[in-house]
This record gives sequence, C-alpha cells and structure tokens, in this order.
Amino acid sequence: MKKAFIFDLDGVIVDTAKFHYLAWRNLAKGIDFDFTTAQNEQFKGVSRVRSLEILLEMANYKATQEEKDAWLVQKNVEYLSYIQKMDQSEILPDVPRVLAYLIEKQQGIALGSASKNARPILERVALLDKFHAIVDGNDVTTAKPDPEVFVKGAQALGAAAKHCIVFEDSIAGIQAANTAGMTSIGIGDAAVLHEADHVFSDFTEMSNDFLDTLIQK
Ligand code: BG6
Ligand code: MG
Repeated sequence: MKKAFIFDLDGVIVDTAKFHYLAWRNLAKGIDFDFTTAQNEQFKGVSRVRSLEILLEMANYKATQEEKDAWLVQKNVEYLSYIQKMDQSEILPDVPRVLAYLIEKQQGIALGSASKNARPILERVALLDKFHAIVDGNDVTTAKPDPEVFVKGAQALGAAAKHCIVFEDSIAGIQAANTAGMTSIGIGDAAVLHEADHVFSDFTEMSNDFLDTLIQK
C-alpha cells in the first residue's frame, strides 16, 4: 500500500548538525559561554529563534532585542558559509539507497524540516527532485515538538497520519511525530531517541525488508 515517508533534513539526510553546532558555539564564545556538544542535543529540531533563547538561558545572559536580532543574522551568515561548500559527500550513508527504494515502490516522500535553509541545502546535494512535497521552517508557525510540520507534510501527500512514517534525529521531532499519531523512526542514539517506535544508528542499519514491512503495515 502507498504510505507517506516524511524525512527530517538536518542530521537525517545531510550531516549539517555539525555546522549548526559550530555556528552556535562561535556565537556563544562571544558571550564567554562554552557551548558543548551534549548541550547541542537540545538544539536539534528546534527553530533558530528558539535555539538562541535556549542558548541565552544556558549562558544566563539577558540580551536586548537588538542583540538577539543581530545574533540570529550572525548565526545564519556563518551557517550559510558552511553550507555553501556542501556537496553530495555530505549526504548521510545509505540515504540515496532508501530514497531510491521508496521511489521504486511508488511511496509518497516529503521533507519535514524546521530549517529555513532546507531548499538550498537539498539543491546543493542534488536531492531536491526526490521529494514530492517540501515543508520547512518557512511554512510553519509552530516548531517541533509541535506536530505542525509533519501534519502539513501528510496533507501535502494526501495521507492519513496512521499511514505516515517519520525519520528523525531529534527528541523534539520524535515527540512531534508521536503526537501526530505517525510511526516515528529515530536515526541516531537509541538512548537519546528512546521515545521512537524504532531506532537505527543510521540508514545502513535499515534494510529494504524493514522498509517493506513499513509499506505493508
Ligand atoms: C533544524 C535543526 O533542522 O533546523 C536545528 O535541527 C535548526 O538545529 C533548525 O536550528 C532551524 O534551521 P535554520 O537553517 O532555519 O537555522
Ligand atoms: Mg534533525
């Protein structure tokens, strides 16, 4: 049967989580805050604006609106400088195989990302044409863990929530998929993503047989 497969972008399709981290870490240095990779887990799946709020709370820094506006621009300028150098080598292992298999099986494929940079990134890595629908940070008003981005992805594919499967690397994204009543599949650390229905360390661990079970469910 035809199902809707909704992919998160950062940390699922491409290895951009490291670029977000670098840009936030440099910004944090400017206010004498040592931002760690462990703290960065809380930023995954979270919007740019909310990420800055969390960073300032962690650093216990009371910023003016002018400072916040300037830092949001500064963070994105640095992030864009990294993604401009991206190429297909940044695609995470076995993502092309999974996309090709789902296309061969005529499944619905959507992107459900919090990022406002999703389209240029997919263009850079030449994957834009693999998606039937793209829902990103420009299309939603509420961020993950709110399910809006996945609900809109399902609507764009004309699929009921129970027929949707979400691939996510963030806690917020797994919670969003679960709240939407979709099957949630964590890509990453099982201890971090324990709320997911299934967890794989990466797509190399996910067989075509497993994809078949999702399609036939
Ligand atoms: C998510 C990332 O996909 O997009 C977050 O996991 C990021 O780390 C968010 O903050 C927003 O991204 P952007 O590209 O709009 O700053
Ligand atoms: Mg992600």
